[in-house]
Amino acid sequence: MRILIVGAGGEGGKAALRALKGRHEIITAGRKSGDISVDLTDSASIEPMFRKSGSLDAVVATAGHSHFGPLSAMTEKDFRKGLDDKLMGQINLVLIGLKHIADAGSFTLTTGVLDRDPVRGGANAAAVNGAISAFVRSAALEMPRGIRINAVSPALLEDSVARFAGVFPGHIPVSSARAGQAYVKSVEGALTGQIIIADA
Ligand SMILES: NC(=O)c1ccc[n+]([C@@H]2O[C@H](COP(=O)([O-])OP(=O)(O)OC[C@H]3O[C@@H](n4cnc5c(N)ncnc54)[C@H](OP(=O)(O)O)[C@@H]3O)[C@@H](O)[C@H]2O)c1
Repeated sequence: MRILIVGAGGEGGKAALRALKGRHEIITAGRKSGDISVDLTDSASIEPMFRKSGSLDAVVATAGHSHFGPLSAMTEKDFRKGLDDKLMGQINLVLIGLKHIADAGSFTLTTGVLDRDPVRGGANAAAVNGAISAFVRSAALEMPRGIRINAVSPALLEDSVARFAGVFPGHIPVSSARAGQAYVKSVEGALTGQIIIADA
């Protein structure tokens, strides 16, 4: 398969890349990293990325930021970070990508553990994860041409433990290898409309 991974340079993206490369032709994209430049927060950059990518059998998104911080100090502007970046970035990737992806292709988005196992400071990320999951479940009903759509919901990645020190008390991190297999399940398997949980 010819697979585009947006965000392949990040910790989640590397997990997907390691699991899929070798058996597939992989094209990577990011703002500063990857084969092709794209900023998912700028929808005008998504169409050119697809034109440069050529034909694609699968699109994987492992990019998207949200706001972390105490609820009592959270502003509308803070909350919009997750909506404009992680949520609309991944949704625009699907809406625009539908014109470009091959028949029977697939989209795999990335949510995360926080909507099913919340932590302090994670309300924005949790809300965005829930919204992506709802989009995936609903959009799967209307995917044309046999196209599938799923989301991978990884636990805290082992590779990210140091970066999030103190934020996820009691959470058991998942290995990159295990998280990578969730992306393989979505891309190579037959599931659609599913949230594929990658827990330890
Ligand atoms: N890390 C974890 O433990 C974990 C666990 C569960 C869920 N997640 C979710 O997985 C996703 C990725 O997390 P991560 O930790 O792997 O992040 P990361 O290490 O910061 O990597 C993000 C990747 O996406 C690219 N990127 C960032 N913003 C972009 C944009 N606007 N347009 C295009 N590419 C962009 C980055 O490359 P450039 O800088 O070159 O753009 C980078 O390759 C996030 O949505 C996160 O919530 C992560």
